[in-house]
Amino acid sequence: LELTQEEQFQARIDEDIRIEPKDWMPEAYRKTLIRQISQHAHSELVGMLPEGNWITRAPSLKRKSILLAKVQDEAGHGLYLYSAAETLGASRDQMLADLHSGKAKYSSIFNYPTLSWADMGTIGWLVDGAAILNQVPLCRTSYGPYARAMVRVCKEESFHQRQGFEIMQTLCEGAPEQKAMAQEALNRWWWPTLMMFGPKDADSPNTEQSMKWRIKRFTNDELRQKFVDMMVPQAEFLGLTVPDDKLQWNEAKQGYDFGDVDWAEFWDVVKGNGPCSRERLQARTDAWEQGAWVREAALAHAAKRKQRAEA
Ligand code: 3HC
Repeated sequence: LELTQEEQFQARIDEDIRIEPKDWMPEAYRKTLIRQISQHAHSELVGMLPEGNWITRAPSLKRKSILLAKVQDEAGHGLYLYSAAETLGASRDQMLADLHSGKAKYSSIFNYPTLSWADMGTIGWLVDGAAILNQVPLCRTSYGPYARAMVRVCKEESFHQRQGFEIMQTLCEGAPEQKAMAQEALNRWWWPTLMMFGPKDADSPNTEQSMKWRIKRFTNDELRQKFVDMMVPQAEFLGLTVPDDKLQWNEAKQGYDFGDVDWAEFWDVVKGNGPCSRERLQARTDAWEQGAWVREAALAHAAKRKQRAEA
């Protein structure tokens, strides 16, 4: 019996053989990857903004240089990811145009404001913690260029997470005002962080097929559960309270039961109505427009060099 091209493709996936740019792939696989990778790239770029907001106000030179390095890392992650999407035939100009027009999605989490220095700790600890949980399995995703990009991203991301936890630890061991600032930040970020993993599996249109293609290695709910199980003991260690009345250890499942995310808020933010959605897009569009002269100069320089090489 001859296998169809699509069956041969699925057989390779099932054997955990990586798919590479020039291999045959179903159009829907290509589209799904471009969707996920470009959204991921946009998240890295927009993800620079909430923290960029605190670079000039970091409490010490040491904190400032760490934060600056971290924000620069996010830009780098965005670039690896746009490159990975380009290997699938996506155009970078088009991806960016879709981000700027508001057509493309990016992670809901970056539409929340950063109101205190403790938010820098909380973002590193919780948001980057969630990002790592989601991205470590993506080092084994079926598409080669995406998987390879994730290896480096995850290494840098784990440094980000540690710096965030260390900020929290410093605040929690400090004055009562500092500890209160840490608790207040945790109260604001906990639920939006749980939303990063995406809708419940039952309401996730893409999970089933993406699991079959091994683009995703865990479902949204599986990762959310792992996250809660990992973070609750860390919050206890810090002496902080997770803002969830329903949080309770479940001996039978060896994990925590927890309350329901406000899904109406999640979808509202995904649709572009988050507290900072407009501001974030405006900042990206401004950066793009103000950077036009750099792109033009780089192109003119490249053209001159080419001319000189040919002469
Ligand atoms: N924010 C915004 N949109 C979201 C979302 C979120 N938190 N979660 C899900 N969505 C969107 C999906 O993109 C999808 O939209 P689409 O069909 O129009 O493209 C829709 O909601 C339905 O969700 P699904 O669960 O069906 O979608 P996926 O199968 O794609 O799963 C995902 C969503 C788990 C986020 C998956 O795409 C994924 O694992 N992506 C890679 C990781 C990523 O993008 N992380 C971004 C945040 S972390 C980060 O950027 C690092 C930081 O340090 C800067």
